[in-house]
Formats: sequence, structure tokens, C-alpha cells
Amino acid sequence: MFDDKTTCMVVVGAQWGDEGKGKLVDVLAERADLVVRYQGGANAGHTVVIGESQFILRQIPSGILHQRVTCVIGNGVVLEPENLFAELDQLRDRGIDTTGRLFVSNRAHLVLPYHKLLDAASEKSQKLGTTGRGIGPAYEDKYGRRGIRVIDLRRIECASHLLTDRVARANQLLEIMGSADRASLDDHVALLERLAPRLLPLAADTGLLVHRAIREKRRVLLEGAQGALLDVDHGTYPYVTSSNTTAGGAAVGAGIGPTAIDGVLGVVKAYTTRVGNGPLPTEAESPDGDRLRQLGGEFGAVTGRPRRCGWFDATVVRYAARVNGLTGLAVTKLDVLDTFSEIPVGTAYRLDGDSCDEMPSEVEALGRVKPIYETHQGWVSPTGTARRLSDLPKGARAYLDRLEALSGVPVRYVSVGTRRDQIIEV
Ligand code: IMP
Repeated sequence: MFDDKTTCMVVVGAQWGDEGKGKLVDVLAERADLVVRYQGGANAGHTVVIGESQFILRQIPSGILHQRVTCVIGNGVVLEPENLFAELDQLRDRGIDTTGRLFVSNRAHLVLPYHKLLDAASEKSQKLGTTGRGIGPAYEDKYGRRGIRVIDLRRIECASHLLTDRVARANQLLEIMGSADRASLDDHVALLERLAPRLLPLAADTGLLVHRAIREKRRVLLEGAQGALLDVDHGTYPYVTSSNTTAGGAAVGAGIGPTAIDGVLGVVKAYTTRVGNGPLPTEAESPDGDRLRQLGGEFGAVTGRPRRCGWFDATVVRYAARVNGLTGLAVTKLDVLDTFSEIPVGTAYRLDGDSCDEMPSEVEALGRVKPIYETHQGWVSPTGTARRLSDLPKGARAYLDRLEALSGVPVRYVSVGTRRDQIIEV
């Protein structure tokens, strides 16, 4: 992964999120010095299992679980401070000392309670299936140039003044949207006053911090959240999140130049899942869909919603490889397929009678495609104890070879279980 020439790597989801990036970053962070989250916010739920303990990290990079790693929440993240503090408390209670190891960009925008009210109100008409964490409205404020940033907490009177306008505007919007909810200015001002003393000591010019680390040849991992098909530009718009989840977003959201990045690892499940609304061409009907969900524990880490499950979709991963410039693949949850005697793989689509091996730009067209499947014979034996490729059953190796050929990206890692040690480095 890291060597003399490769010191700054991006890890991204190459499907619809929940690919197991948390576990991958946790494993790779063992060799990293700095781990940076660069987009999204508390909509993410990165699950890491260490021994008998499970950690779900929403905003803090998964690297925090390694005592010698410094973690950064970059300028591209929309930060929900109370949730961040709850995460920090949870880590402390479980014996993880984060003192001096976590920095938050002073340019990051804040997600405030009014953003969540707006998210809930717009869900009533838009029905995107958001996580309800206020992510879309917070990015709207950012790009509308009316956001409140971490640095604004330094001058609390100024921030309170900004809030007067923002809360009034939010309440107007809530009224227009027919919501009975209203945001309270006093509560928002009190919240900022409460947040400032704990958040400001963590605030830094994190772009500079990452830049210096790269210049000193320290090993830097940029940790993406969600997945390529949820990217606001490249995903299944409008059924997407509101940030650039693809590798291009890593430079912007971490505050460095794109030339600093040496490689991009795309994480994919050995099958496909999606949570929220929007097309999922290879969605499996029951009983297979239910079986994948049960075996894979496919329930949202943030919302607990059951994930929609289906077969590996090579068109999706080829597309993700292109828009991310993937240099390697990590295939996760291979073990979930251990008991299937037949495993379909979507190789391309049929759209209105024609074959199509590129992702349609129109969500309505993607909703109409019919996947073209090839069927692999299952290996029907456990893979959880494999630590080298040669430990895997022949059928599992053939399956991985096929995913690699269809995606056009070399497989670098294979995960065969939730535990840290259940990983194969190729
Ligand atoms: P939002 O990011 O909460 O606005 O939600 C927009 C869409 O992205 C919805 O379909 C969510 O279910 C999906 N989404 C957001 N975060 C994640 C994630 O971490 N994993 C999977 N889906 C997500």
C-alpha cells in the first residue's frame, strides 16, 4: 500500500456506500501517520470490530483506533459538533485516548439543528431517503455562502448575529414547505456558546497540517464516506448525497492539491447494497435478497434501515473506477457468499433492447435497465480463516479474478470477515 513513492492514498467507496471502508481504513491505518475525513458528515457510519468490541464512527476517521495515528476532519466535511463530542466521549469511555490526536478544520461548516428540521421537511416531498442528519441543507448553506464555519465560533457575537438571519430564513422555508416545526434562535445561540469552548481547541488550519505531513513523506490516508454512486455529480442524481464522494473530492475536502495524491483504493462489496431510494439494477428478489441481508448484517449503521441487497454490478464498478481513477480494489464481505451454490454477476445492462456497458446519466434510464447476468458456481465452503489468496477455495479465487477482469482494476485486498485480522493482502 505505502512505499517510498506512495505516501498519500485515498480510500473511496465504489458502489452506494457501506462497502466496508471503515474496516479497510482501520487495517491500513496501522501503517499510516495521518488519517483524514474529507467530505460528508454524520450521515456516515463506519463500523470497525476489534476483538469483541464494535465501534461505529460517524465523523471521526477510523484511524483514531490506532494510538499513534493523528486524525483530521477536513474542510470538506459538514460537522455536527454535538455528535462529534458524543463520539469522543464514547471513545474515551472505551479506553481510547484522543488527546492531541484529532484536529478539525477551522473552515469546516457546521450542521445545526435547523438543518435537520429542513432535511425532515424536504424529505416529505422529495422522498430521497436521506439519513435525516441535515447534510443536504448544510451543504446548501455552504454553497449559498451563508454557512457558519468552525472558525466563526471564535467571534461568538458575530456568529450569533449570523444565526439571527439563518434561523429566520430556515423558519420561512419550513413554513413554505408546510412543516409545523420551527427553529429557536435562542436555542441556536445557546448551542454555539456551549460548543465553542470544546470545539475551538481542536480547530486548526488542517490543509496546512496535511500538506506538511505529505512534504515530510509521512503516510497519509484520505478516508472517503458514502460511495461513487452517491456522489452529487457522478451518482444516481437526485438520489445522491450532497458532496463529492469520489477521489476528486479528496483533494478539495482535505485542502491539498490533486498532485499530492499517489493512488486511489476503491472498496467494493463482493455483492451490492443500497440504502435509501433510487435505482439498484442488480437488486435481488427474495429469498436471495433477504438471505444476503441476514448473512451480511445489512442494516444501516446510522439509521438501522434494512439495506437493499443484490448481486455484484460490474457496470457500477467500472464506472466508479473511471470517475475515481482507481488504482486498486478492496473486495469486502466475500465470506457472505460462502453458502450460495450459484452467484450471479451483472456484467452489463440491456437498455431498450440494446446492450449498454456504461452508466446511463439519467436516473430514469438506470431504473429501466435490465442487467445481463453470468452465473458463477459457488464455492460453498467457509473463507473466514483465509489469510492468503492461496488459502481461498478455487471457486472464490475464480470469482475474484472475474471481478478484477470486469472492473479493469487489480484486486489488492480481500476481506473475509468483520475482524481486523480477517483480511488478505494480495
Ligand atoms: P443524506 O446524505 O443523508 O442527504 O442522504 C442522501 C442519500 O445518501 C440517501 O439515499 C442515504 O441513504 C444515502 N447515504 C448517505 N450516507 C450514507 C452512508 O454512509 N452509507 C450509505 N448510504 C448513505
